[in-house]
Amino acid sequence: MFKLKKLVAAALAGVMMAVAAGCGGGSADNTPAAGNGGGKRVGVAMPTQSSQRWIQDGANMKEKLEALGYQVDLQYAEDDVQAQVSQIENMITNGANCLVVASIDSSALVNALAQAKANNIPVIAYDRLLMDTDSVSYYATFDNKGVGTLIGKYVEKQLGLAEGKGPYNVEFFAGSPDDNNAHFLNDGLFEVLQKYIDNGQLVVPSKQTDFDTICTLRWSQETAQRRMEDLISGYYTDGKKLDAVISPFDGISYGIAAALEGAGYQVGKNWPLITGQDAELMATKNIISGKQTMSVFKDTRNLADKCVTMVQAVLEGKEPEINDTTSYNNHKLVVPSYLCTPVAVDKNNYQKELVDSGYYKADQLK
Ligand code: BGC
Repeated sequence: MFKLKKLVAAALAGVMMAVAAGCGGGSADNTPAAGNGGGKRVGVAMPTQSSQRWIQDGANMKEKLEALGYQVDLQYAEDDVQAQVSQIENMITNGANCLVVASIDSSALVNALAQAKANNIPVIAYDRLLMDTDSVSYYATFDNKGVGTLIGKYVEKQLGLAEGKGPYNVEFFAGSPDDNNAHFLNDGLFEVLQKYIDNGQLVVPSKQTDFDTICTLRWSQETAQRRMEDLISGYYTDGKKLDAVISPFDGISYGIAAALEGAGYQVGKNWPLITGQDAELMATKNIISGKQTMSVFKDTRNLADKCVTMVQAVLEGKEPEINDTTSYNNHKLVVPSYLCTPVAVDKNNYQKELVDSGYYKADQLK
C-alpha cells in the first residue's frame, strides 16, 4: 500500500512537472509559451519586504515578466547584505539568463556580479545604482536628484522662503549611506535649501546638516525614531518651536512622527511639516490625517515597465530606450539609464495622482 502511494505520488509529480514546463513558458527547448520570453529565466533580487514599495516593485516585475513568457525567480533579502549575495549566486547557479538587482548595499555585490559577467548574464540595476562594477548593462530608476529637488521646492513653497519668510527651525534626515540614491536625493534637496540655511531663514538648532551625521543606515524607521527622540530632548526642551522635519522616505517619516507623538506633539497644534518619499499607503493616510505633509510618488508600475523593456532588449540583443547617458557614473562606467519622473503629492493632489491613476483604490485610504 505504502509503495503504491509512493508510486502514485511520483507519477503525479511527473505530470505536474510536465504541466509546469508546458504552461510556464519553461519547456526544455525554450519554446515560447506565453509572450516571447521563451521561458528564459530572470532573477529579480529585491532588498526588503519591510517597506511597501519594494513589495509592489517585486510583484509588478514578476507579473509583467511572466506575462511575456519569462520564468521569474523573485527573491527578497530582508536588508541582509550577505543573504542578497547568496541569492544572486544561486540565481546564477540555477541558470539565470538575466539579473535584475535592487541592491541593499550598492557596493557589496561586486564579486557576485563579476560571476554573472563571467557567465555572460546581463545585469540590470533596478532603482538603486550598482556601484564599483563593470558588470551592469543598464539602469532603470527615477530621477533621484529630482526627488530631492521636489522635496526642497515643496518646503520652499510651503514656508514662503522665496518671499523671505522665516526664520524657521528645521531638522534634516537623509537615507542610507550605502545607497547612491540617498546621496543624489540629498544633493537635490540642499541645492534648493542650502541658501536659506546660509541666510538664516532656515535655522537648524542641532546644527546637524552634513550627510554623515543626518544619514540613516538601511533607511531604518527605528534608527530615525531614536535620532528624532535625541533631537527633541537635546534641542527642543526649552519650548523651541519645531517647524519642519525633512525626511527622505516615508518609513523614516513614521519614525519621526512616533518620536514626536512620544514627546507630546499634536497634529494641528505644534506638529511640524514632515516630508517623505514613496507615497506608501500609510503615508498617504497620514497625509490625509495631517500627520505627514507630503511625499514623493514614484509610480512603480512605470519603473517596472521600463525595466522589463530593458530585460527584453538585452535578451534579444537589442537596444532598450534610455534617456540619460551622463548622470550615473558608478566609478567604473557611466551606466546608460532610464529615469522615470517622480511627483510630489500632498492633501491637494493625492486624489488625482494616487486614486484617479488607479495606484490606490479610494477605499484603501479609509
Ligand atoms: C529608493 C526609495 C526608497 C528608499 C528606501 C531608495 O533607494 O529609491 O524610493 O524610499 O530606497 O527603501
